[in-house]
Amino acid sequence: MLIIHFKRITSEWILLLFIQAVLSAEIPSSVKSQSMVSPYNYENVSAWGNLFPTCMGQQQSPIALNKDTIFYTERTPLRWIGYDNQPTEMTLGNNGHTVKLIGKWKNGNVPYISGGPLLDDYVFGQIHFHWGPNDTYGAEHTMHGFTFPLEMHMVHYKRPYGSIGNALKHVDGLAVVGILFTITNQTVVTTLDPVTDYLTYVSKPHTVSNIAPFRLSILGGIYSPMAFMSYSGSLTTPPCNEVVIWIVPIYAWPATSKQLSQLRSLQLQTHTRYNNRPLQPLNGRHVYFYKT
Ligand SMILES: *[C@@H]1O[C@H](CO)[C@@H](O)[C@H](O)[C@H]1NC(C)=O
Ligand SMILES: *[C@@H]1O[C@H](CO)[C@@H](O)[C@H](O)[C@H]1NC(C)=O
Ligand SMILES: *[C@@H]1O[C@H](CO)[C@@H](O)[C@H](O)[C@H]1NC(C)=O
Repeated sequence: MLIIHFKRITSEWILLLFIQAVLSAEIPSSVKSQSMVSPYNYENVSAWGNLFPTCMGQQQSPIALNKDTIFYTERTPLRWIGYDNQPTEMTLGNNGHTVKLIGKWKNGNVPYISGGPLLDDYVFGQIHFHWGPNDTYGAEHTMHGFTFPLEMHMVHYKRPYGSIGNALKHVDGLAVVGILFTITNQTVVTTLDPVTDYLTYVSKPHTVSNIAPFRLSILGGIYSPMAFMSYSGSLTTPPCNEVVIWIVPIYAWPATSKQLSQLRSLQLQTHTRYNNRPLQPLNGRHVYFYKT
């Protein structure tokens, strides 16, 4: 519908070059040549720990969520507040690893979640997606042994920390809702259209485009019957900070094969057509099941 601008995200390039400058001093040359292309890629996820040691930590994500190994719990319901508020601006960006959606709201109107496993308000920061090479595989978490083609991560930061960047320094910094999607035979499923309609504008790495602002509640998953799994884990991308309270609803949302192929047609930095991290060990962590 509209495309306001289309430019390189220069600040990300600068950050990337800075990271490479720091790393090139201390990493083996085989890894270094790889990091000249990208600080990480999905072709060799086992090497992430060489550059980002936390990726070898004991509380990593994603994990297999399984009904046989969960603890039932009763707490206050998870609440979604402000997800119907109209943003004033929205931006879609391809950062070379995923497509990321951010928004701006008038003062006090930024959506947030609270309740459930959360001991404070967690303010909406961004949404991004993980997908795979085909329509059966690509979500990061699995549920009862099932795989899904797409997972949407709604990233929220604990309100007192003020930003995602600052929240990354605290073990309770982020709450990420991971919405699983499954392919439906219906030809028209509009849930993801406000994002997928604009993917052609950000098909190249390090591009960004303003898009028509829309209420986040359109995207699905929100207000869904609140049965979800929750556990303590990490970012699923380097630097893999172990700062995430994960919330994964047990119901998958519909997407079409066309929407998946639109995501797959994005050019990522390392030319893979997928960006999902493999399952990580549970290492004795508890997974809690919330049903309200
Ligand atoms: C992946 O990374 C590991 C650890 O650095 C290395 O041993 C291995 O050779 C790499 N494999 C490929 C295919 O690059
Ligand atoms: C989908 O991709 C996964 C990962 O490469 C692979 O294991 C699986 O066999 C593929 N499924 C189909 C139906 O092609
Ligand atoms: C969807 O369509 C495919 C191909 O026509 C068919 O094999 C499959 O059974 C259908 N699934 C459902 C749930 O209708």
